[in-house]
Formats: sequence, C-alpha cells, structure tokens
Amino acid sequence: MLKLIIFGPPSAGKGTQAQRLSKEYGLPQVSTGDLLREAVAKQTPLGAKIKSYLDTGKLGPDDLIVQLIKDRVSKPDCSKGYLLDGFPRTMGQAKELDKMTDIDLVLNIVVDLESLVERAVGRRICKKCNAVYNVTSNPPKKTGVCDKCGGELIQRDDDKEATVRNRLKVYQEQTAPLIEHFRKKGNIVDIDGSKGIDGVYSQMMGAIKKLDK
Ligand code: AP5
Repeated sequence: MLKLIIFGPPSAGKGTQAQRLSKEYGLPQVSTGDLLREAVAKQTPLGAKIKSYLDTGKLGPDDLIVQLIKDRVSKPDCSKGYLLDGFPRTMGQAKELDKMTDIDLVLNIVVDLESLVERAVGRRICKKCNAVYNVTSNPPKKTGVCDKCGGELIQRDDDKEATVRNRLKVYQEQTAPLIEHFRKKGNIVDIDGSKGIDGVYSQMMGAIKKLDK
C-alpha cells in the first residue's frame, strides 16, 4: 500500500510527475483537476456546479471536493494505494483527509513564480488521455498531436495569463499554508522543481525509495 500526495503550486509539474509515477508503481493518479474538467466536459450536475470555479481559478467548495475524492478512492483500482494530485488544497480538505487515511509521503514541488506562469501559458494537454506537454520544455513530436494516443492537444481555458496569476494568488492564500500542516505531521519532502522533468522525477523516486515500502 502506497499513498502519496503530489503537492505544489499551479503548473509546478504535479500532473506530469503523477503520470510517470502512476506508470512506475501501477497506482492510479487521482487528480481533482482532471476529474472536475471531465465533469464539465460531460456536462454532469457536478460539472454545472463547478464550471465557474474552474473558469476563474477559484477553489471549488470543500464538501463537494471531499465527496469527489471519497467516491474516487473507494473504487477497486485504489485498493493498493493512489497518487493524489491537486488534493488537498485547503486546511478543511487536509483535515478531512486526515480523518480518511494516513498518507505515506507528500512530495512538495518548489518552483519560482515566473517559471510557473511560463509553464502554464505554454502547456498543452491531450483532450483524450490528459497527457501533458509544453510548447518549449516538453513539446510533442508532431505539433498539436498527442504522442501517446494521437488525440488532439488543446490549451486549458484557465491557462490564460490573468487566470494563471489568480490561481497562484489562491495557492498562496489557501494552499501554501498546508505545507506547515504536513511539516508538523513529518511526512513532507521538498523537491527542487526547477530541474527538468527527469531531474524532478529522480528526486521523487529517491524520496519514495527511502520509505522502504
Ligand atoms: P488543477 O488541474 O489541479 O490545476 P493546478 O493545481 O493549477 O495544477 P496544474 O494542473 O495547473 O499544474 P501541474 O502542477 O499539474 O503541472 P503540469 O504537470 O500540468 O486544478 C484546476 C482547477 O480545478 C483549480 O483552479 C480549481 O478551480 C479546481 N480544483 C482542483 N482541485 C481542487 C481542490 N482540491 N479543491 C478545490 N478546487 C480544486 O505541468 C505544467 C506545465 O509545465 C506543462 O506544460 C509541463 O509540460 C511543464 N513542466 C512540467 N514539469 C516541468 C519541468 N520540470 N520543467 C519544465 N517544464 C515542466
């Protein structure tokens, strides 16, 4: 059983690393952002409630997000563990998670603000499989086409610069304080996110191997 949180500000590289770790360990990536975008695309009742939050970069209501996570981690593919990507993001969510389960390790990706804006604005995602690319740091082989599944690459609506800056502000105010919460619990490790994708990945692998699981 291995339960990890991939933590960090918007566009730090959480999804990129979660996808690789998911393959390495055969554990599902549980991304609240992906689940919410899927709900919006499928026009579900949840999607209708959450769309305005996603569009403006505000956080969705805790009760709704916590329920989404509870439903997801109770599925059979999570029985051997999972990688949380984008959850928890408020103190309320962190406290609910504490009630639900014990987390082995929080991998906290640290990146400076301007690089985060650049990474977000240059990001492209696959409409079909959610694979993550970047027009400069991680381009696909063929422009606009996913290397993995051939799906169309699109820019997320919330990756416009003004919305990105708002997401960073929301992170500073509501999510960054969780780092102190994890430090008190003693299960967080800082990862230098200024390194390339491989460099970040090897730091994470090193930290996970130390868990001796
Ligand atoms: P969410 O989808 O979680 O967005 P986020 O936290 O802002 O994170 P991102 O997906 O933007 O970035 P990432 O860290 O995964 O980076 P990525 O790997 O893509 O949430 C979206 C919205 O949903 C929120 O604003 C909110 O409204 C709502 N929401 C979600 N969770 C919620 C919750 N718990 N509570 C309430 N509301 C919630 O990489 C970014 C780019 O950088 C890519 O182009 C990538 O190729 C590139 N890159 C990655 N690593 C590197 C590297 N090492 N070097 C250079 N480039 C890199």
